[in-house]
Amino acid sequence: MKRVLVSETIAEAGLNLLRAAGHVVDVRLGLSPDELGEAVGGAAGLIVRSATKVDAALLNAGSDLIVVGRAGVGVDNVDVAHATSRNVLVVNAPLSNVTSAAEHSMALLLAQARNVPQAHAALTARRWERSAWQGVELAGKTLGVIGLGRIGSLVAERALAFGMKIVAHDPYISQEVASRVHAELIALEELMRRSDFITLHLLKTPETIGLINADLLALAKPSLRIVNVSRGGIIDEADLAAAVRAGTIAGAAIDVFDVEPALDSPLLGVDGIVVTPHLGASTAEAQQAAGITIAEQVQLALNGEAVPFAVNQT
Ligand SMILES: NC(=O)c1ccc[n+]([C@@H]2O[C@H](COP(=O)([O-])OP(=O)(O)OC[C@H]3O[C@@H](n4cnc5c(N)ncnc54)[C@H](O)[C@@H]3O)[C@@H](O)[C@H]2O)c1
Repeated sequence: MKRVLVSETIAEAGLNLLRAAGHVVDVRLGLSPDELGEAVGGAAGLIVRSATKVDAALLNAGSDLIVVGRAGVGVDNVDVAHATSRNVLVVNAPLSNVTSAAEHSMALLLAQARNVPQAHAALTARRWERSAWQGVELAGKTLGVIGLGRIGSLVAERALAFGMKIVAHDPYISQEVASRVHAELIALEELMRRSDFITLHLLKTPETIGLINADLLALAKPSLRIVNVSRGGIIDEADLAAAVRAGTIAGAAIDVFDVEPALDSPLLGVDGIVVTPHLGASTAEAQQAAGITIAEQVQLALNGEAVPFAVNQT
């Protein structure tokens, strides 16, 4: 029997799995970093979502930790190198929310194409502005997908159903793979020039931080609309805000920000930029799947068995 500290809300079905395996599930929400440091002492497992920063100090405080589980895709908030140096396995749930993220990308594509949030705000403020909010169709338009991995491919499939043409930029896949979603693989600069809409589905890495900046935005059609449901920081926020304000591009719809909560982002309050507070994975289905997957992975790690979704080796 081992103690697993859970610092954020995880689907009950996942926690029950750990309880059924005989572990003590210690749910402690809303702790400060100091309180968390104390609570992690003696725990063999730590389960987080994205708000808990699993940094070197927290890992050092958790001297009995065997595994850290991130209930979601990616491990941006975990210091994986430090975990590895302390023999702590880091696991995530890479497939749990891909459908939700793809669907949110489609929601944002449509929302900005048809000015849904702006029109809603106007009408609820008692303004009936039919001509102000004329939109554009998706059908027949070119969608540039940057990062044609799991989520990018799901978005491409859905966009095809809307009658869009797909071009993609992804240096790590072949044209053969891209052809499965009828995508033409092209260079980033060409994608910027040809696309009517762009959607980003990249991991945040040193290579991708600031990838979309003023130089690239200057290549775009003035009618371009960009969607980012991947990670903040991949688009330079100041450059994007400036491009939309100047009419270099028509608009953007952004779910993820450089700093979150993003209450001071330059993207807020710009006409033509639609924002949501990192809702890509916020569906009942994705949270249920992430909770169950992470509990299964943590349980395997605690038993010393092979863990398919580990991101490091100890
Ligand atoms: N907003 C949300 O709530 C939410 C939810 C789920 C996932 N995400 C994020 O979505 C992103 C994509 O996730 P995924 O599961 O599709 O990842 P993935 O690893 O399946 O796909 C990423 C793709 O990007 C490609 N790539 C890497 N470097 C590139 C570059 N420089 N230029 C172009 N392509 C490049 C890779 O080859 C890969 O095909 C991740 O950052 C993930 O954290 C966000």
